Amino acid sequence: MAEPAGPSISSWMIQSGAGSCPWPPRPREPVPSVPPVEEADGSPLRYGGFRAASCAHNKDPMLRNAPSVERQVDGKMLLVTGGAGFIGSNFIHYLLRKYEKIEIINLDKLTYAGNLDNLKDIEADPRYEFVHGDIRDKELVRSVMRRVQGVVHFAAETHVDRSILDAGEFVLTDVFGTFVLLDALREAPQVEFFIHVSTDEVYGSRDEGFFTEEDPLNPSSPYAASKAGADRLAYAYTVTYGLPVIIVRPSNNFGPYQYPEKFIPLFVTNALEDKPLPLYGKGTNVRDWLYVEDNCRAIDWLMRWGKTGEAYNIGAGNEVQNIRIAEKICDLLAKPRDLIRFVPDRLGHDRRYALDCRKIRSLGWKPEADFERALETTVRWYRENEAWWRKIKEKSRAWRSFYDEYYRNRKGMKKE
Ligand code: NAD
Ligand code: DAU
Repeated sequence: MAEPAGPSISSWMIQSGAGSCPWPPRPREPVPSVPPVEEADGSPLRYGGFRAASCAHNKDPMLRNAPSVERQVDGKMLLVTGGAGFIGSNFIHYLLRKYEKIEIINLDKLTYAGNLDNLKDIEADPRYEFVHGDIRDKELVRSVMRRVQGVVHFAAETHVDRSILDAGEFVLTDVFGTFVLLDALREAPQVEFFIHVSTDEVYGSRDEGFFTEEDPLNPSSPYAASKAGADRLAYAYTVTYGLPVIIVRPSNNFGPYQYPEKFIPLFVTNALEDKPLPLYGKGTNVRDWLYVEDNCRAIDWLMRWGKTGEAYNIGAGNEVQNIRIAEKICDLLAKPRDLIRFVPDRLGHDRRYALDCRKIRSLGWKPEADFERALETTVRWYRENEAWWRKIKEKSRAWRSFYDEYYRNRKGMKKE
């Protein structure tokens, strides 16, 4: 790999009052090395007024709603929805590496974004089972839900730009699909936790400060609005039926196996092909980048220590403007920066996402990846796994039609 050129990313990271996730907390507090133990006194859960005592779903609300001891994951069977996608496949790898006796059912429809190549190395593992199906299929969902003790729900339509072209599938999968899963959960009292994977985009954009879990949701894109609908539906099912739902809201993930329509893999793979890198607007929008491995660790942490009925932000405080990342990718690949093309902005483009992550940090989780090194590792992964992304870019009709419609004739894509 070429030597990184230019200043280090840490020097570009936004450090002003408008940046850097508020950690260490203000004022500084000690971070517990293990999650704190709760009083098992039946005290009500706090989030949004939900009381554990109103739990009709399980006879022992303390068992399901406030873990005073660590929830056991090893030896359990989990349902992972959307496990053939980017985060889902990383998560399955992570679980199989970490837990010797875990069993996983991966329910995935294999949309254009689902890819069994992501799981090739573990497909013969006796602890892993793939079920090809749709989360909107009520009978199928009921039948798999009956078999498991825990659920992690990733399946969704996820690309903001596609939701701008056509929002229909987003509403159907992200909202209705989540409803089907939650409804099946009502009939599966053996399920100890249901992690609903929401997103930081549900809060909308903000120029300064950080969103806490108590902030109102104000989504801007059809994707984010669908995710906000699902997020609130999951919450409503906790309040109404006492279901053991935990909501997580991660920031922008990056890492191996990310479908190349997303910013970092699109720019890396286009640069490797000496193709233009379409940067929206002025390239000054800010995202808080979270290495996918850290997100997997956070979700695992919340399976064990999260309180049901609660929402948790997951972020690493790596706020960087898009243009800095685009430049760094060119430098890491020893490609000229004039591959970067400024193109008309995404409609309704959120300027900045920023999360206050003190809540999950107070449980003992913290991100481990150094952003700059994780970006280098990610760039190297795409360089060394060309066959993985070339198969998508060269053989997938879904890729080609989206790319042609969205980028091919976009002003600025051709060199003036
Ligand atoms: P992805 O697009 O890479 O994968 C989505 C997976 O869901 C695919 O395998 C797809 O086949 C499957 N799927 C889609 N519709 C389905 C259906 N109807 N039934 C069954 N399976 C279906 O997504 P990702 O980036 O891995 O995101 C996973 C989850 O995390 C999503 O809920 C997303 O909203 C959320 N999230 C993602 C990020 C991010 O930066 N990628 C950040 C925060 C939250
Ligand atoms: O914040 C979490 C969200 O992150 C997830 O919920 C979504 O599923 C995920 O897709 C992602 O959404 P973003 O819109 O933030 O990610 P995306 O990779 O599409 O874009 C990141 C930034 O890069 C954003 O400011 C838009 C910009 N961008 C993106 C593309 C694809 C460009 O400038 N050019 C591009 O071609």
